Amino acid sequence: MYVAALELVDFRSYSHVQIDLRPGVSVLVGRNGQGKTNVVEAIGYLATLGSHRVAADQPLVRHEAERSVIRAAVEREGRRLLLEIEIVPGKSNRARINKSQLPRPRELLGVLRTVMFAPEDLTLVRGDPDSRRGFLDELMMLRTPRLAGVKADYERTLKQRNALLKSAAATRGSFDVTTLAVWNDHLVQLGSELVHERLMLVSDLCAPVRQAYADLAPASGEAELGYKASWTNAAPLADQLSRDQIAAEFRESLARVERDELQRGVTLAGPHRDDLLLRLGDHPAKGYASHGESWSMVLALRLASFALLRMDGDDPVLILDDVFAELDSTRRERLAEMVVDAEQVLVTAAVADDIPATLSGDRFTVEAGQVLSDPAADRGDA
Ligand SMILES: Nc1ncnc2c1ncn2[C@@H]1O[C@H](COP(=O)(O)OP(=O)(O)OP(=O)(O)O)[C@@H](O)[C@H]1O
Ligand SMILES: [Mg+2]
Repeated sequence: MYVAALELVDFRSYSHVQIDLRPGVSVLVGRNGQGKTNVVEAIGYLATLGSHRVAADQPLVRHEAERSVIRAAVEREGRRLLLEIEIVPGKSNRARINKSQLPRPRELLGVLRTVMFAPEDLTLVRGDPDSRRGFLDELMMLRTPRLAGVKADYERTLKQRNALLKSAAATRGSFDVTTLAVWNDHLVQLGSELVHERLMLVSDLCAPVRQAYADLAPASGEAELGYKASWTNAAPLADQLSRDQIAAEFRESLARVERDELQRGVTLAGPHRDDLLLRLGDHPAKGYASHGESWSMVLALRLASFALLRMDGDDPVLILDDVFAELDSTRRERLAEMVVDAEQVLVTAAVADDIPATLSGDRFTVEAGQVLSDPAADRGDA
């Protein structure tokens, strides 16, 4: 698939901009702070309904405006779809496909699929577990959009269960046993489905991550993945657990931590406290990997995501936001070779020379709220 056209209204620094894109490589070049990342962030938002930079929607809306609109024409298996999302902070967003409104924005998930490489990705190795859970869940939802509903239901249940625990903590232990049992049932049912899906995803990712890491950094040990569960001591887990086994273990662990939970007023076990383990050779990447190794690990995770999505159907749109500046010339070249045959690759850079020649393509200059196609650098094959 590829994005054929993008229109932004009051998104980030843009009051209005329209860009026509083609399959193949497109490069956006411009000085710092001119709006390159804003463009690719908008495309990523259409695919994932979230920004790779911020958790809240408010920063996405241009100062002084009340709402943003992202519109894109997406070419998918020979069909053109017009996707649109209206971001209204504090209210629910509105999504449309071919001008007809969807009952829920999350029904947009899976229509446009992207894999984004960005400087923020380093937190996948260095940061807290929530960024790694986010990585797994986002990829899982791109592959199986139905799971977005399961995740939303899990989060709602968790919130309600936490509220009950909190009120129990406040009243020093007086709480409604039957209500807690009902929340436990919901939590276990939804949570075990999420965990089961994550475990299958981790197992699908293992081989492509190992391969991509070996290709990028042949001399730096093997990359391995694992899943660390908060609800069992048998970690890391592989994919051999059935959903029923997961549910049984999860339920037992809730019984084990119940006293603690009632004191602290939070749910202590479940997929919201699990982690994706990243290992290089015999050590966890976090705390041991060098800067370059951490980058290779992150790139391997993204390349493996690309490989899985490509196997599921047509190519996702690849977005490389400012990554070449972070890499040495060997890794730059290797990464470029590994992505160049994707159906569409969007690259941003402040310095055009950082982009390997392998990735030559259409060129756009981003400056002062405008994105201008640079005809001199066009491939001329239209
Ligand atoms: N909600 C907003 N309203 C108006 N301007 C915004 C908003 N959010 C961000 N900006 C502005 O957008 C600009 C940043 O754009 P962006 O991150 O796309 O830059 P960039 O071209 O990718 O730069 P770099 O090369 O440094 O990565 C900043 O000047 C920032 O102040
Ligand atoms: Mg940027």
